[in-house]
Amino acid sequence: MKKLILLLFIVTSLTRVYAQDSLITNIGSRKALSLNGSWQYIVDPYETGFYDYRYHELNEKNGDAYWNTDVPANKTDKKEHGYIAKYTLQVPGDWNHQKPEFVYYEGTVWYKKSFDFHPAESATRYFLYFGAVNYRADVYLNGKKMGMHKGGFTPFNFEVPVSLLKATGNFLVVKVDNKRYADEVPTLNTDWWNYGGITRDVKLVEVPQSFIQDYVIQLKKPLPGKAPAAMPEVTGWIRLNQAQSGGNITITIPELKLKKQVAVIGAITPVSFKLPKLQLWSPEHPKLYQVIVATSNDRVEDKIGFRTVEAYGKQVLLNGKPIFMRGISIHGEIPQEVRRAVGPEDAKQLLGQARELGCNMVRLAHYPHDEAMTRLADSLGILVWSEIPVYWTINFGSQEVLNKAKAQLKEMITRDHNRASIIIWSVGNETPVSQTRTDFMHSLITEAKRLDSTRMISAALEVNYSALKDINEVNDPLGQFVDLVAFNEYLGWYGGLPDKCRTTNWSTPYNKPLFISETGAGAKGGFHADSLTRFSEEFQEWYYKEQIAMLKRMPVNFVGLSPWVLNDFRSPKRNNPIYQEGWNRKGLYDDKGNKKKAFYIMQAYYNEMKKKTIK
Ligand code: GCU
Repeated sequence: MKKLILLLFIVTSLTRVYAQDSLITNIGSRKALSLNGSWQYIVDPYETGFYDYRYHELNEKNGDAYWNTDVPANKTDKKEHGYIAKYTLQVPGDWNHQKPEFVYYEGTVWYKKSFDFHPAESATRYFLYFGAVNYRADVYLNGKKMGMHKGGFTPFNFEVPVSLLKATGNFLVVKVDNKRYADEVPTLNTDWWNYGGITRDVKLVEVPQSFIQDYVIQLKKPLPGKAPAAMPEVTGWIRLNQAQSGGNITITIPELKLKKQVAVIGAITPVSFKLPKLQLWSPEHPKLYQVIVATSNDRVEDKIGFRTVEAYGKQVLLNGKPIFMRGISIHGEIPQEVRRAVGPEDAKQLLGQARELGCNMVRLAHYPHDEAMTRLADSLGILVWSEIPVYWTINFGSQEVLNKAKAQLKEMITRDHNRASIIIWSVGNETPVSQTRTDFMHSLITEAKRLDSTRMISAALEVNYSALKDINEVNDPLGQFVDLVAFNEYLGWYGGLPDKCRTTNWSTPYNKPLFISETGAGAKGGFHADSLTRFSEEFQEWYYKEQIAMLKRMPVNFVGLSPWVLNDFRSPKRNNPIYQEGWNRKGLYDDKGNKKKAFYIMQAYYNEMKKKTIK
C-alpha cells in the first residue's frame, strides 16, 4: 500500500510541475529559503536559448537544451552560452535601472541562481514562489521545466518534486521576456515604463505533505446599509492542499480568546463563527488581530482587520458609516532611483507621502502592487483600490485575452483577499466603449464578484463630454455593472484651460456612488512662470484650485477622488525635451521627492474634507 501511495505521489508531483499550482497565500508566514540576491544572467534578444536556427522551439528530448544549464558535458562539448559572475543582476529588481544598457531593453534575459538545499526531516514538499516577474517567466530547475507564467504583477508558484532537489549546486534558471504584445494584458500601449525582470521576491517554500494553501477569514456582509452586528460573524473558508479527511482545522484569535475547530470536509472547508465584540478596522482605527490557522501538521499566522464595506445607494459605507475617500493615485515606482517599487521600505516611502498629503485612500495604479504595499496599508489604515492592467486598447474580442485577464484578476484577489485595506477591486482603466469591450469587462466584473462578494468592484470609466452643454455625463454602459462609478477627467489639461471648471458640472444616470479616479496636470518641479504657462508649477497649482472649486459643486453621490498622481513617473510617451524627458510630470511630488505648489492646494482641501467628514 505504502509503495502505491509513494508511486501515486511521484506521478502526481511530476505531472503537476508543468502546470502552475494554485497560489500559496500568506507566503511571509511560511518557512522558506530566500533566493533573493545576485543572479547571473545572459541577455538574449534573439531568443537563441529558446529556438533553433530555424526558429523552432528547442526540444530537450533531442538533446537540445535551453539555456537552462551551462555545464559542458566534456571538453569537446560546444557551449555558446554560459553564466558567470561578471554578468550579475540583483533580485528582486527590474533590470532597467541596474545597467545603462538595460534602460530601454525589451526582450528576453535568462537569469540563473545556484543554491544548496538541506531537506527537512519531516515529509515535506517544496514550491518555487515568485512575487512577480514581468512579463513572461519560463522556469527551469536542474534542467527540468517547472512551468511558465504570464502576467507582470502577480505572484505564482510551482511545486518542485523533492527528488529533483540536490544537496548542492541546484541550478535554477528563469527565462524572462518583457516584450509587449497586442494580445497580452497590458497590451502594446501603456503610459508607464516597461520595467522587465524578476521584480519581486523569489523563495523556495517548504510545506508539509498536507498544508494550508489559502483561506478567507472576513466579516460576513451585513444587511444592505447596516453596520456589522455587535457580535459580528466571520464567514470564509480554508483550502487545504492534499486535505486529509478526518482531520480538523483550528482557527485561533488569541486577543479575542477565540478558538474554533472545524472538521475537514475536503479541499475547501467552509468556516463561520461569531466573534465577541471587537475593534472594527477603519482608517482612524486600523486594528489588526493575530489570526492563527492550524491543522494537525501545519500552522500559519496572519494579521487580519475586520470591517465591512459596500456601495449603498449614493454612498460608500465602511462599517455601516458613509466615508469620503481622500485618495491619490500611485504607480509602483521609486522615481529617485528610477525603478520598480518593491518591499517594505519602498511601501513606507510611497504610503508615507500619501499620508503627508492627507490621504485616507490610495489607488494602486494600474496593476497589483507588491504585497508589502497592501500589508502596510492594512497597518496604517489606508483604504486601497487595487487594479489589474486591463488598460486602454486591450484586444476585447479575444477569449484568450479574457482568460489572461481573469488569471491576473484571480491572482490579485487570491493574494490579498484578507487585506482589510482593500475595498475596491478594479477590472480596468479607460477602456474605449464598444459592445465587445463592455461584454469583456462585464465578464471580468462577474468573475471578480464570484471570487469576492465582500468588496466593491469598479473600473475607471469613460466620460461623455458634452460639446453643447456644460454638463458632462458619466454614462459609460459599464456603469450599470460596477458598484462604484469611477471616471478619469482632465478638464483644463487635456481639454481647455482650468477655468473651464467654473462652468462645468458632472452627472451620472446611475444611482451609485461617484468617484473621480484621475484628475491632474503636469508641472516640471522647480519651473516657475505665470499660471498660463503649461508645465509651470503655477499652472498645475491653478489647475488644482479650479478643480477643487468644481468639486464643491459635485452631485450628492460624490464620494471622493484619487488625483493623478503622487509622484512624477517614467513613461516612454512623455518626450517634451525641456519639461518631460521621458517623465510624466503630473506628480504632486517631483522625481526627487520635492513637493510642488499644487501639493499644498490638495493637502489643504483634504485637511478641510477630513474635518468635515470625520464624524
Ligand atoms: C490616463 C491614464 C494614466 C495616464 C494619464 C496621463 O488617465 O489612466 O495612466 O498616465 O491619463 O495622461 O497622464
